Amino acid sequence: MEGRKSEKQEATLTSLEILLPEITKPTVIGAVPSGASDQSAAARAVREMFTSIAPRYNLLNHVLSFNVDRLWWRRTAGTFRHVISCPGARILDLCCGTGDMTFALAAAAGKSGSQILGADFSHAMLQRAAAKGRERRRSSAPEWIEADALRLPVPSNHFHLVTSAFGFRNLADYDAGLREIFRLLRPGGECGILDFGEPKGLLGAIYRVYFKRVLPHVGAVVSGVKGPYAYLPASVERFPAPEEMIARMKAVGFQQVSWTPYTFGIAGLYRGKKIL
Ligand SMILES: C[S@@+](CC[C@H](N)C(=O)[O-])C[C@H]1O[C@@H](n2cnc3c(N)ncnc32)[C@H](O)[C@@H]1O
Repeated sequence: MEGRKSEKQEATLTSLEILLPEITKPTVIGAVPSGASDQSAAARAVREMFTSIAPRYNLLNHVLSFNVDRLWWRRTAGTFRHVISCPGARILDLCCGTGDMTFALAAAAGKSGSQILGADFSHAMLQRAAAKGRERRRSSAPEWIEADALRLPVPSNHFHLVTSAFGFRNLADYDAGLREIFRLLRPGGECGILDFGEPKGLLGAIYRVYFKRVLPHVGAVVSGVKGPYAYLPASVERFPAPEEMIARMKAVGFQQVSWTPYTFGIAGLYRGKKIL
């Protein structure tokens, strides 16, 4: 009958209505600090935020994580020892900040002669990384480059390993970040992204109180800046859950993708390989 939807039309409409929210979802996901209206504003806000807390960043990191962060960096570096210890291996630590992950990689490299590069777009964070490097003077001493992780001035197929610790989550476009890591890796190269997660169960509930209420308060008092430590829990909440992150890594082309929870899932390591 005219004016009435047939059963078939009804069914088609219903399935379209179900699909619509999926189709209209924004496809770009990434960090959005409050007040940032687009991707370049988000990146600028992230850079200003880290620059503002650079002087107290290390102290706060160790205090707020009860020093567990050191174990996480070391464990991540140890996971990739088979790559790092190869003579001449080229390693990139993206969003290196003051360089703790980079130095953990250098320690794992020992005297292998690997080339280790730390990249970050905050000059103030990099200055601290370089100063630490001068104090330590290891045989595999890292070098530093001030650059945006989404546009690294390095040719494709260059690195044997690309890592990022607690930095990837701050990128304005996660898929673009994954594509850039994939581009930079040599065939057979590996990627390790260490970042916070959201632990489940009772421990998760207790942790959330700490992470969302105590940490922003202590962070603001010690650093003297309010925004960054409120942004931290918000950015973790926004970050894809492990299943989604794994799917995004696979979509970009990574193989052998996995996620290993650290400390009950408070943090975790994503791994993937570029096999061509
Ligand atoms: C939470 S800190 C992590 C630093 C270090 N990897 C660590 O584990 O302590 C995040 C770092 O990512 C950097 N970062 C964020 N977005 C970036 C981008 N698009 N390009 C380069 N660095 C970026 C920030 O400047 C900051 O130093």
